[in-house]
Amino acid sequence: MKYYIASDHAGFHLKNRLRITLKKKYEFVDLGIHIAERTDYPKIAIKLAKTVAADKNSLGILLCGTGVGMAIVANKVPGARAVVLNDGFIAKLSRQHNNANIACIGARNTPDQTVKDLVTTFLETDFLGHKKEGERHKKRVEQIKKIEEKHFDKKIFNWIDRIKD
Ligand code: RB5
Repeated sequence: MKYYIASDHAGFHLKNRLRITLKKKYEFVDLGIHIAERTDYPKIAIKLAKTVAADKNSLGILLCGTGVGMAIVANKVPGARAVVLNDGFIAKLSRQHNNANIACIGARNTPDQTVKDLVTTFLETDFLGHKKEGERHKKRVEQIKKIEEKHFDKKIFNWIDRIKD
């Protein structure tokens, strides 16, 4: 499993602290930002979402002020299933039931210890769809994929590719 992390300026310092706190357990690939300067969150969210969507064996963490902007953008990418996390129940169930692959967390409303707990739960919980008792969850996530295939025009990928840092 590969782990990606990224933030805008609002999540920048939290990203650095979180990487240090979880250093022994997880090695994150840091997709930016790499210096503390004001950055538009859509550019960051799209980069991480494309990366995670392209690699089924990966999970991503996005940090901004609230988590909301990152999640809105990330969910434009087919194959990305982003969730705003501020509660441990959602951290667990979004993995078990929805196979969420991107956790978006608000640096301005979430204490560090909570962020650590949310991220740890998210990364350590498996999708139940791979088990016999979770077949209904697998079916539902497959329905999401079918919706993407039906409604997302191929042109969306050209649009995504035009977005540069
Ligand atoms: C930046 O000020 C802030 O708007 C951004 O980090 C995020 O919270 C957007 O959803």
